[in-house]
Amino acid sequence: MKIKNLTYNKVWSYDEALESQENIKLKKKYDLFINGKFVLPEKSKYFPTINPATEEKITNIAQADKADINKAVESAGIAYEKYWSKISNRDRGKYIFRIARMLQERAKEFALIETIDNGKPIKESMSFDIPTAINWFFYYAGWTDKLKYAFPGKKIKPIGTIGQIIPWNFPLMMAAWKIAPALSCGNTVVLKPAETTSLTALKLAELIQDCDLPPGVVNIVTGNGYTGAEIVKHKDIKKIAFTGSTKIGKEIQRTTAGTGKKITLELGGKGANIIFEDAAINQAVEGVINSIYFNQGHVCSAGSRLFVQENIYDIVMKKIKDRFKTLKIGNPLDKNTDIGAINSKKQLEKIQNYIKIGKNEGGKIYQTFGNLPEKGYWCKPTIFTEVSQSHTIVREEIFGPVLTVQTFRTIDEVIEKANNTFYGLSAGVWTEKASKIFKVSSKLKAGVIWANSFNKFNAASPFGGYKESGLGREGGKHGLIQYLK
Ligand code: NAI
Ligand code: MG
Repeated sequence: MKIKNLTYNKVWSYDEALESQENIKLKKKYDLFINGKFVLPEKSKYFPTINPATEEKITNIAQADKADINKAVESAGIAYEKYWSKISNRDRGKYIFRIARMLQERAKEFALIETIDNGKPIKESMSFDIPTAINWFFYYAGWTDKLKYAFPGKKIKPIGTIGQIIPWNFPLMMAAWKIAPALSCGNTVVLKPAETTSLTALKLAELIQDCDLPPGVVNIVTGNGYTGAEIVKHKDIKKIAFTGSTKIGKEIQRTTAGTGKKITLELGGKGANIIFEDAAINQAVEGVINSIYFNQGHVCSAGSRLFVQENIYDIVMKKIKDRFKTLKIGNPLDKNTDIGAINSKKQLEKIQNYIKIGKNEGGKIYQTFGNLPEKGYWCKPTIFTEVSQSHTIVREEIFGPVLTVQTFRTIDEVIEKANNTFYGLSAGVWTEKASKIFKVSSKLKAGVIWANSFNKFNAASPFGGYKESGLGREGGKHGLIQYLK
């Protein structure tokens, strides 16, 4: 018997998406979503969000102040007492299912807005960001009435009001990763999207209104780091879930120390991607492209350090460079685009600075050819060879399309090199030998290890890091425990 594909796994056709472009309705300004309504920010301050591929302003976003955060937290607290802790587990699940289904229906619209606001290729928002966000809601909707089976013998309770702060690299997907498990466990939330990419979270707020979710269960407040810090400090927030830089993650650890607040942190990475001599080379080369050029390299789990076994180095590099030449960089709305715009001027400057450091420290640079669009923030896919463990670009997270390549001879040598980092989020192992996969992956200190693949995500599998890559796990049953007492 053939099982029909479920619609939420479908990849929408690009032409369908582009045709629907004129149907995207954006407001001239976006207010704060508090207690089920869009309300004016107390200080009437707004900031622009731009399209990084054109540098044009898209619309204005409200800047939330301390007073606004107080209102949002209060509304989440009341919603918890009045509605969310009162309804049955099953009804809670129905609401989350409804979010998933409505998102599915409006997927094209969300994909287009994500691409315009973030700069990522439409092909990625259509086939990855939005479907993954939808899957997260479906997956956690299914858990609401099964929580006691997930943790047999344990008395579990929701935590209460959760503060959630997310980054700009996968805006809607990060919102889903945070909101879905929190609601599933019976908590209410105050979420802050990143300042350069607030739009899909605000569209999600509109959708949540359409879903008739009880007011205050989800509050979306926009603003910058100041707004985030006010959420972290608020005394009625019982838990903080953060994804972003290691620097801010450490700051959140300091602020919450001794307050009894629970925290989960999903921070940076410097993933090792290891190709052994017995790997299927063409497949591995495709994996390298996906590990570092996916989403312009703005991926915490990016395989930014490539390790190639010495005797296949020449052939692997030749194939990578050949494949490299075919990458299409430019208009993110073009369905053939592989590499879109860098999300912000600030991030572009950071990447360019690392490229300069890489050259100054003696790395050999290789970049794709061709002209970049005149307007917008662009970075050519870049490879550095002739680098070693001591190079800055091998040690620090660049968060851009920049790959460093090193060689190795033995398994022990590559394990030592791969683990020689402050981070411990992801790694990849390419070999046709299963025993080698087990041997190597059991010794790599990384939260997620992909074998003969890279950057694959699934709502049922936990994701998170060791060392400076963070605390706690998101996804699967592991993701539930973070939202329960
Ligand atoms: P960031 O850590 O400053 O921003 C992430 C989120 O935290 C945003 O919503 C921001 O408004 C908020 N935030 C900023 N300061 C805060 C504070 N004091 N308290 C609470 N919330 C605060 O990251 P940024 O500046 O956007 O990027 C800098 C670098 O961080 C990147 O170049 C990259 O290396 C890394 N990064 C890693 C991410 C990941 O997924 N692991 C995501 C984004 C950035
Ligand atoms: Mg933007």
